[in-house]
Amino acid sequence: MKRHDENRVVEYDRPGDADVLELRARPLPAPGPGEVTVEVITSGISHIDGFIRSGREDAWGDDPWPRRSGSDFAGIVVAVGDGVTRWRRGDDVVGHVRAGAHAAYVTVPQATLVAKPRGVTWETAGGLYLAGATALDTLDDVRVGADDVVVISAAAGGVGSIEAQIARHRGATVIGTCGDRNFDYLRQVGITPVRYGEGIADRIRAAAGKPVTVMIDNFGQDGRALADELGVPETRYRSSEDRRRTELGLLADDAEALSRGTRLLEEVVRLAERRAFTVLVSGFYPLAEIAEAYRDLSRLHARGKVILGTRPVTTVRSLKARDVFEAAR
Ligand SMILES: NC(=O)c1ccc[n+]([C@@H]2O[C@H](COP(=O)([O-])OP(=O)(O)OC[C@H]3O[C@@H](n4cnc5c(N)ncnc54)[C@H](OP(=O)(O)O)[C@@H]3O)[C@@H](O)[C@H]2O)c1
Repeated sequence: MKRHDENRVVEYDRPGDADVLELRARPLPAPGPGEVTVEVITSGISHIDGFIRSGREDAWGDDPWPRRSGSDFAGIVVAVGDGVTRWRRGDDVVGHVRAGAHAAYVTVPQATLVAKPRGVTWETAGGLYLAGATALDTLDDVRVGADDVVVISAAAGGVGSIEAQIARHRGATVIGTCGDRNFDYLRQVGITPVRYGEGIADRIRAAAGKPVTVMIDNFGQDGRALADELGVPETRYRSSEDRRRTELGLLADDAEALSRGTRLLEEVVRLAERRAFTVLVSGFYPLAEIAEAYRDLSRLHARGKVILGTRPVTTVRSLKARDVFEAAR
């Protein structure tokens, strides 16, 4: 039988770019009371992980070193502590943790896990938490409904693509900003693409055909000015700075934040199971190639989520469709 007493964990000893990340062997203690140890199958990466690692976010300045990375994961329960009633060895789960998901195993409180439905693939499940919960929380916050015309910037990105599809699922008309490369993708998921850059307000008005009621700016350039130009009320505009606060809130580890995160994750998983949205995997990297995965994300042209896998079938690099497109330009 497989032993579960040694872990492989991504750690770093000082602030920096992705090159400070190291995959290290660490002991894996048995789970404590109320805790569950999960073998991680997939785990997502996010810009905010990188901001925290680089020291750009100082909210975590008192955390001891070495620090760990990663908040989203999907995996299989391998051990449960005393008092765990909800989970058993062998259960497939999706979960969240403040840091430490970029690992072969993660040990978390039982209340931070939700069941992974069979219909949600491993490749996508590991990237659902931060992007999905941010998207859902933002849409709820601005109360997006069927009568809305919603503009979402960076609509093909990790958060934007989930946000745009859930808004569409609610019946809203959704306009997503993107570059030429993503027009076909956004159309395929029911979003009207509009190219970002000069003259964008006119293009949005022409595409919408009626007044824009909500704007969510993921990218963080001139969002407020564009929202004003489109006549979007203050209460129905969310900035990239609002998104940053939402994400940091989802990474807090007090009891209230953890249970709120799990509630949102439950709803995100339910929506994924019902195909209210699908996550495109923009790049799938072995855990050991985490620095390369972050470099991919930092190019700011991800389409969907960048995901790490602990059991990749092959480490032979394949060219992704979007790389072929870029190479041909
Ligand atoms: N304020 C914060 O603290 C905070 C927190 C998290 C993320 N962010 C920022 O939010 C952005 C999106 O993050 P994400 O994780 O959702 O996306 P992501 O997965 O990194 O995807 C980036 C997306 O941005 C689009 N894009 C590139 N240049 C753009 C431009 N000038 N205007 C509009 N869209 C553009 C790309 O579309 P094309 O490939 O079609 O160009 C791509 O689909 C990133 O820039 C990130 O740094 C900010």
